[in-house]
Amino acid sequence: MRIADLPRHLGEEVLIQGWLWQKRSSGGIQFLILRDGSGIVQAVVTRKNPEAFEVADELVQEAAVRAWGVPKADPRAPTGYELAITKLELVQQREGYPITPKEHGPGFLLDHRHLWIRSPRQSAILRVRHELLRAIREFFEARGFVETDAPIFTPLAVEGTTTLFEVEYFDEKAYLSQSGQLYLEATAMALGLVYWIGPAFRAERSKTRKHLIEFWMAEAEMAFYDHEQNVQIQEELVKFVVQRVLERRAQELKTLGRDLKPLERVVKEPFPRITYREALDILKQKGLELPYGEDFGAPHEEALGEHFGVPVFVERFPANMKAFYMQPDPRDPSVVLAADLIAPEGYGEIIGGSERIHDERLLIQKLEEFGLPREPYEWYLDLRRYGSVPHAGFGLGIERTVAWLTGAPHVRECIPFPRMLYRLRP
Ligand code: 4AD
Ligand code: MG
Repeated sequence: MRIADLPRHLGEEVLIQGWLWQKRSSGGIQFLILRDGSGIVQAVVTRKNPEAFEVADELVQEAAVRAWGVPKADPRAPTGYELAITKLELVQQREGYPITPKEHGPGFLLDHRHLWIRSPRQSAILRVRHELLRAIREFFEARGFVETDAPIFTPLAVEGTTTLFEVEYFDEKAYLSQSGQLYLEATAMALGLVYWIGPAFRAERSKTRKHLIEFWMAEAEMAFYDHEQNVQIQEELVKFVVQRVLERRAQELKTLGRDLKPLERVVKEPFPRITYREALDILKQKGLELPYGEDFGAPHEEALGEHFGVPVFVERFPANMKAFYMQPDPRDPSVVLAADLIAPEGYGEIIGGSERIHDERLLIQKLEEFGLPREPYEWYLDLRRYGSVPHAGFGLGIERTVAWLTGAPHVRECIPFPRMLYRLRP
């Protein structure tokens, strides 16, 4: 039996297999907080059961155990349920588990990430991450999208040349993929509506709470979609995943102390849409003036998120701020039909998306303007030569979205093993 399923088996004898998170005793009773990956439960052993009591008495933190007992509702227990132990068996244990209930610094915890993920907070975050990934798949599956994967080794840049990770690829140079987008554009022309969830690599020298070197993205690409349809499906996706996490991970959000009100607003209210220029005006009123053409920093994103209280689309950025593949706005070709979705509560940009250039000549011109070599993009230009159609897509950052959903202070807690500027281990 898994701990998460206990509420459906009250009064029955069950077996829980897991680990001891914490222990305290009072009088002749021992309270064991057990975890099994699905959740935690308080288990009690009394002297009336001397064999189990003796085993419990010897247990140290992270002891692996099998516990037989009968679950019952108890409002005083941390999760509202308590397991009255009938039999307890030690599987394995050792003294000296490095992460004790006392406070540890982030460096120490990250060095012990392989153990840190066992803590109730960290495992709750990872379960929310799982729920997010599952909800994304469910969303796309219900709309007839085909899941189609992109390569990790590539000969080309997608998102600028300054963050490329170069690797030896036999006799030539390759890069680790910054985004699967260009390949999804090809599969979209084959399959219509496509998505994937995969890793992206950026050699970014930024040490912020929103940046990882290796992060995951859910990317979608839709043939015959324009900018409007692109923005609309993103809003539907974000509302859907927030709703799913609220429904299915209430216990985790409680463990994390997440305030649910801001998330409940997201499900109900429409997401505002503003242009980049309008964003600059709002920022100026808040004393955060930015020259036209400059990218938002963390304070700007935070101010915009706070201003609206729900995710906000910022669209129509100056073309030279963004990537080479973005379709110019026909009303003003100096800006592109791109939108970034900025999350509230300081979590910053969670989605970047755009309509893609589908005209071969314009795309060739943009490659030149951006100083990109033509050869590795020849296959990409083919997509504009044979049955080229308007299309659009986007990428949602998984860790930033998890940070927002869970209220985690840093994206490094939102992936099992973070890769950061100065961290390759464990
Ligand atoms: O805005 P970005 O760079 O967009 C793209 O890569 C497009 N090619 C996606 C597409 O249209 N298919 O990245 C998308 C999202 C960002 O909004 C952000 O949430 C996340 O990926 N992201 C990062 N997350 C963590 N660490 C980093 N270094 C990130 N860089 C981007
Ligand atoms: Mg972006």
